[in-house]
Amino acid sequence: MSATTHQRSPAHKSSCTVLPCRDDAQLREYINRYWRKDHVLARDPRMFDFTYRTPWVNSNRFPNGTSVLCVYDDDGEHGERGRLLGFLGCIMTPYPRKSSYWLALWHVLPELKGTGLGGALLREMQQHAIESNSWIGTFGAGPEAVPVYLKRGYMVRAVRRWVFDPQYDNSQAFIESMNQAEVIPNEDWLRYRFDEHPIYSYQRDEHGVFRTESNEWGVVTHCCKLWDNSENHVHQVYEEGLRIALAEDKPFLLDSWSYNCPGRGWKLAPEDLASVFHPPQARGNLIYASGYPFLPMKVSKGDCDQDRPN
Ligand SMILES: CC(C)(COP(=O)(O)OP(=O)(O)OC[C@H]1O[C@@H](n2cnc3c(N)ncnc32)[C@H](O)[C@@H]1OP(=O)(O)O)[C@@H](O)C(=O)NCCC(=O)NCCS
Repeated sequence: MSATTHQRSPAHKSSCTVLPCRDDAQLREYINRYWRKDHVLARDPRMFDFTYRTPWVNSNRFPNGTSVLCVYDDDGEHGERGRLLGFLGCIMTPYPRKSSYWLALWHVLPELKGTGLGGALLREMQQHAIESNSWIGTFGAGPEAVPVYLKRGYMVRAVRRWVFDPQYDNSQAFIESMNQAEVIPNEDWLRYRFDEHPIYSYQRDEHGVFRTESNEWGVVTHCCKLWDNSENHVHQVYEEGLRIALAEDKPFLLDSWSYNCPGRGWKLAPEDLASVFHPPQARGNLIYASGYPFLPMKVSKGDCDQDRPN
């Protein structure tokens, strides 16, 4: 088990240590208290395990099976668990390398922000990944995180949001090329991520993965994976979603996230269109993917912790 000690500030005599998560319950309490009250990872142990305790967690790195690094202050005043000062989580998957760390949730106590603890967590996680010849990155970062990743050697790319319009006759999809070191998500992963999801139900076949929900905004079909040559299938998915929307007398939307246009019929989403739905809000149609030592050929809503219940 590796650990780094970080001197908090000259004002603090005690030092804190970056270690693999010791206690899931303590981390869930922290998320509930400091990240957001009733956050799904705090209130639902199935979602916590699904996210941080995948079958691909590297047990040499995370002996308790939870792929989260925590900063502890073992000042003796907080019992055996120590005081939790912050954490950085990752979802361990078998793609885009056989062992991969998708960063998901990064937080330090508000009063300690800007003191270097967050940086120490990221440094340690990156060290874990590099030492095991793994991949590390994320999908869903905001513009403020871009320089943080670029400075540390990651590749960063903007991911745009697209909506499907069967009347829109644009050119064919741009074909992305795969990095030689990249592996695509295998059947074991797809089964785990989509078929065995603790809360959501997905429609998955050889063309892609979709999830349709009826919410306050209307009926939305989320395109979570789209394999190539699936134009006819997308039309079918669109028609099915539209039928549900018409029956419920609601508007309908089929959307997708990708670097480039996913194919014929997809156009850039308008800025004022809701991008989150619980409750509906337009939060922009541009987010960033980062990766070290490369970026996957494709990213989509089914990657990292995108398409997660709130
Ligand atoms: C993000 C966060 C964990 C960073 O921890 P920290 O201890 O303040 O960070 P450090 O002082 O070690 O700085 C580490 C780097 O993160 C950057 N950073 C600080 N806040 C950031 C933020 N909200 N998003 C992205 N990067 C941030 C710093 O500029 C610094 O970059 P540099 O070393 O390249 O100059 C902390 O600010 C926090 O808890 N923020 C609230 C939650 C959040 O916004 N999380 C990020 C999205 S998941």
